[in-house]
Order: sequence, then structure tokens, then C-alpha cells
Amino acid sequence: MKHFRGVFDVENVNALISEAIWMKHNPLAHAGLGKGKKLGMIFMNPSLRTRLSTEMAARDLGMDVQVLNMGDAWTPDFEEGSVMDGQEVEHIKEAAGVLGRYFDMLAIRAFPGLLDREADDAEGVLRAFEQYGKKPILSLESATRHPLQSLADMITLEEQKKKKSPKVVLTWAPHVKSLPQAVPLSFAEWTLAAGYDLHIAHPAGLGLDPRFTHGAHITNDQNEALAGADFIYVKNWSKREPYGVPYEDGASWMLNEKRLDIAPNARIMHCLPVRRNVELSDDLLDSPRSLVLEQAENRLWAARVVLKNMLTDILINEKAAIPY
Ligand code: CP
Repeated sequence: MKHFRGVFDVENVNALISEAIWMKHNPLAHAGLGKGKKLGMIFMNPSLRTRLSTEMAARDLGMDVQVLNMGDAWTPDFEEGSVMDGQEVEHIKEAAGVLGRYFDMLAIRAFPGLLDREADDAEGVLRAFEQYGKKPILSLESATRHPLQSLADMITLEEQKKKKSPKVVLTWAPHVKSLPQAVPLSFAEWTLAAGYDLHIAHPAGLGLDPRFTHGAHITNDQNEALAGADFIYVKNWSKREPYGVPYEDGASWMLNEKRLDIAPNARIMHCLPVRRNVELSDDLLDSPRSLVLEQAENRLWAARVVLKNMLTDILINEKAAIPY
């Protein structure tokens, strides 16, 4: 695996999930694989889980890691041909170029601006780091995808499922802010690639990009989706049209124990951070139904298996480059 930017970088999704679970049961495997290799983690947005789990996974594989919060550095200009007579003092061509000289692998978190749909869909920030850094790219959540979160979610589903084909539901939830679509898009893409029966429920007008949801059952009736569910993934997202606008009339979409009488065996998932009693009730988050901490724990194994596969690719290419 050269890059990890989405499920499209994975040759066999179910094999990767199985390998992650194997690594969880064999935590000392591959301990020295990353010796002498340097990971640069660049955050343009805040993080708790992604930062700590990825850094820990890299160190457990023997890598050297440095974290840069972009707010502590010069904010780059991303525009081609820009006349830089404004606030920005550095262009991404130099910034990413320098990072590429310092590190063997670049990990980037860059949320969407939620102002220009085409620009966000084009993933310009991630692409610029890849183009000018010229090093393997690990997405720590981009404008349209959060693949490390989705892989952790797939590990959790695999560990927790009680039947071969569980009913998996992704439901929209209320929020006080305008949130990206990266987590729900990514969850849809990965569950469908892994062969799950995916149902998506959202209020009218909040449809997700169909390129990510093709093959899912989609409804505006939350109860219809929830009935008989085995797993319910709860997440807010903002509108695609008009782009980035929050939906404000959705308070009745918040799930609590009472609402789940129609899904008595359902386990509850959320990527975190979660706003209690806005997105999800205390009674669900504090109940044995909740899998949110299992998901967060599995971030360690998602990061570990991805870094192991990316390191293996680097090492194979280095070996192939030896001229004898
Ligand atoms: N779920 C997740 O990505 O959490 P952080 O934003 O804290 O990294």
C-alpha cells in the first residue's frame, strides 16, 4: 500500500480488517519494522484520537514521529500562480517540498472549508501535499474521507457482529454546528466495500454524495431504517445543496433508549467527539449498547496495520532500488 487516502488505496478490504485484528492479538509483531523511518504528522485542524492513536502506532512500529500543528507554522498559500502580497508568507510548493525532504511519510489532517463544494470534492490540500511533498500520504481525515476512522469502525463491526450479515444503519443526528460529510461518506464507502447491508436515514435535503452511497438503502424515514438494526452509526452532516448549510429542524432525530424499542439488539456507534444530549442521549452513551470506546480503541489497530503496510511498501521499493 503506497498511500492511504481512502478505501480505493486498499487492495482487499476484508483482508486488511483481518490483519488488523490479528495485530491486535499479536501486539509485538513488526515492532522494529519502522526503525530509521520518519513520519511527519501535519494537523490543519484539532484532534484527540487521530493524533494520539497514529503517533502511538508509529512509535510501536519503531518509527520516529514529529507532529506539526499548522497553526504554529506559516499558513501556506495553495493557489497556483498566486501573487503573494497578502497575509501568506509561504507557498505549499515550498512548505510541502521541505516536509518531503525531512520525512519518509507525510500524514495530513485537512478538513473541508465547506464554502466551495467543487474545491472540497477535489481534495486540493491532500493532493498538494502529495504532489509537492513527493512522499507516501496517510490521510488523518480529509475534505471527503476519514479512512483511519472507517477502518477502525470496520474492525469494530467485525469483532462485535453476532451474525454473518448484520443490518447496519447510518443515521443523521442533530448538531449545533455545520459539520463535514467526511465521516459518513467514508463509513458508507467502507461498509459497502466490506459487503455490509447498509441503510442510510436522513431528513429530506441532506442526501450524501451518491458516488459514496451507491448500493445502500436510503430513506428519509428514520424508524424504517432503525427497525431491527444490529448496528446504528450516528453522525451529523451538513447539506450538500446548498453546500455546507446546517439543517436546523432535526431535534427529533436524536436517538435515546426509548426510540430504540424498535431495535432492541442494536449497538450504537459514533466516531467521537460527541455532543451529549444533542447528537446522542446520555442513556445510550452510558449504556452497554454503546461501542464508542471500542471504536476509539480500534483506532490504534487501524493506524498500526496501515502504517505496517505503507512501511512494507517503502522497504520493498528501497530494496528494488539497490543496483546489484
Ligand atoms: N474521531 C476522530 O477523528 O477524533 P479526533 O478528531 O479527536 O481525531
